[in-house]
Amino acid sequence: MINEMEKDVSRVLISEEEIKKRVKEMGAQISEDYAGKDVIIVCILKGAVQFFSDLSRALTCHCEMDFMSISSYGNAMRTSGIVRISKDLDNSITNRHVLIIEDIMDSGLTLNHLTNILKTRQPASLRIACLLDKPERRECAISPDYVGFVIPNEFVIGYGLDYMGHFRNLPYVGVKKTDQ
Ligand code: PRP
Repeated sequence: MINEMEKDVSRVLISEEEIKKRVKEMGAQISEDYAGKDVIIVCILKGAVQFFSDLSRALTCHCEMDFMSISSYGNAMRTSGIVRISKDLDNSITNRHVLIIEDIMDSGLTLNHLTNILKTRQPASLRIACLLDKPERRECAISPDYVGFVIPNEFVIGYGLDYMGHFRNLPYVGVKKTDQ
């Protein structure tokens, strides 16, 4: 059957198989680092949903799951870095090990702001795992503790990442065809 989304993809950047392999490796590394600890893994909706689901199943350490929904003031192409929390964590993170799971770090402004908010709640530790990192676009001094892939500055969709709300269900990361 024809995949209706594929006509909008100029090329596959990271295949389903590559993602699977890398997520397994990240899971093993994180499990080793958190061995003997009880970590709260935090899914930042909506983009992280696929990565969160796969990465969590690659973890062998004890963990609890929590979810946060945030939006940054700005437009579709540029984040302002001012984060509005539309769904906060259900539980306290004070004295807990917290691992934020995100799909992508771009300017870094969103996660910079978010980590500053979460630090005020005094977690025992706070780290970030990102599937994708676009360091070329960074506008502040932050980098993820765990990175799946460093990617060039291209508009990517799939595996959680959207264009106008669509393409999150593509099983791979692709480069969006530019509108003619
Ligand atoms: C994306 C992504 C990060 C942020 C990264 O979220 O999930 O939260 O942008 O950009 P930055 O590093 O430049 O701040 P988006 O606002 O697209 O929401 P979504 O996760 O619901 O798609």
